[in-house]
Amino acid sequence: MAGATVVLGGIVGIGVGIPAILSLVPTEAIIAGSKGLWPLNVADIKQLQASTETPIKINFTHHIKDGYVEMDEPEYVWGMKLGQDGMAKLQAARPDLPDLKVVATGISPYPAVVMGFMMFSSICPHLGCKPLWQPSMQKFACPCHGSQFTKYGEHVAGPAPRGLDPLPIEETSGIAKITWIRYKQGEPTRIVVSYS
Ligand code: FES
Repeated sequence: MAGATVVLGGIVGIGVGIPAILSLVPTEAIIAGSKGLWPLNVADIKQLQASTETPIKINFTHHIKDGYVEMDEPEYVWGMKLGQDGMAKLQAARPDLPDLKVVATGISPYPAVVMGFMMFSSICPHLGCKPLWQPSMQKFACPCHGSQFTKYGEHVAGPAPRGLDPLPIEETSGIAKITWIRYKQGEPTRIVVSYS
């Protein structure tokens, strides 16, 4: 009788415990294999066309599902159209992007530049603050611990362990789409944490 009670208690515990634990895991944290693309609208593309060698901020809405809570959260990336010799300059500035590809654990290598554009994640690779483009310095500057990055995302000052992370861009019939990826912070190499 005592044994049966223990077994029954265990089954009930598992039945209640697993859903409770799962509800605490953000479904945003879905690793490679599932990804959400969000398309650039006409206004974004026009802005980008005019952004030669000057990063611009592109806003989008990020849908988050966390347990029973679903919400839209505003997010942004930094986009830039490369100039005439932009590819050569980028290549010289970013040896961490071999052949202008982003190499990371958890995703196949992808091109850092598509249709002449590149998109940087807005997240600082140090501890996750948001570096801002400072026209007077011609650099991205992070307000938290002072990391700085050139317009090509090259890390030039402060504690960040790597340059800004380019995000994948896809082009289908002239429509550009971007994938939002979170990379692990504080690491010199890129490790995918989530797609969304
Ligand atoms: S979070 Fe950007 S420098 Fe620390």
